Amino acid sequence: MAKFVVILSCLALISAIQGNEAVQYTVTDKAAKTPGGARFARDIGVRYTLQAMNTSTTFIWRIFRQKSAADRKNLQKVSLFIENMDGVAYATGNQIHVSAGYIQFYVASVKNEFTGVLYYGMARVWQWDGNGKAPGGLTQGIADYARLKAGYAPSHWVKPGQGDRWDEGYDVTARFLNYCNGLKSGFVANLNKKMRGGYSNNYFVELLGKTVDQLWVDYKAKYET
Ligand SMILES: *[C@@H]1O[C@H](CO)[C@@H](O)[C@H](O)[C@H]1NC(C)=O
Repeated sequence: MAKFVVILSCLALISAIQGNEAVQYTVTDKAAKTPGGARFARDIGVRYTLQAMNTSTTFIWRIFRQKSAADRKNLQKVSLFIENMDGVAYATGNQIHVSAGYIQFYVASVKNEFTGVLYYGMARVWQWDGNGKAPGGLTQGIADYARLKAGYAPSHWVKPGQGDRWDEGYDVTARFLNYCNGLKSGFVANLNKKMRGGYSNNYFVELLGKTVDQLWVDYKAKYET
């Protein structure tokens, strides 16, 4: 009897923890009648996407070292839409929008590429942006850093050391942040944490002891041949 009660209370505890973690995910193919929407259904699918939304959320919380709900945005739901639009994907609030045309015309493994785009979009959903004050290139770079660390950097990305400015965005900034994180493990997580309330380039000095411009010079020098 006592054993039974212990087991029951363990189960209650587990479900309480999971209840705390649970995010609801939805996928809507608004382009189902178009070739891109049809390719989504055939080569990727709603079931796979829902699973990947769960896995990527857990991964991003880990990359950002957001261990408890208090560290994270208070979101109960994330929704993904496949739709007819320009570009590849964007995120706004708790929504991720992915282009049906991009899915239609992607030449290599579209499932792999889509998963990478999803990690980028999911990072955008959960990351802080300094209350809108952080440079756009930096928030893009942090999201692509999450994609890189998840193992979904596509071959068309720039190589480490390439690019003209630290805040150029996307892959250029992601590679630079990866270099910075190599100087001090947890750097990107701590940078994101500082960006919860505002933004200053001085965060780089506070975390790594050098200005972001100096770090960029060091980074470029490291890959010079
Ligand atoms: C992922 O799914 C599992 C199993 O349904 C659930 O317990 C967990 O809370 C989910 N994680 C996230 C981050 O949504």
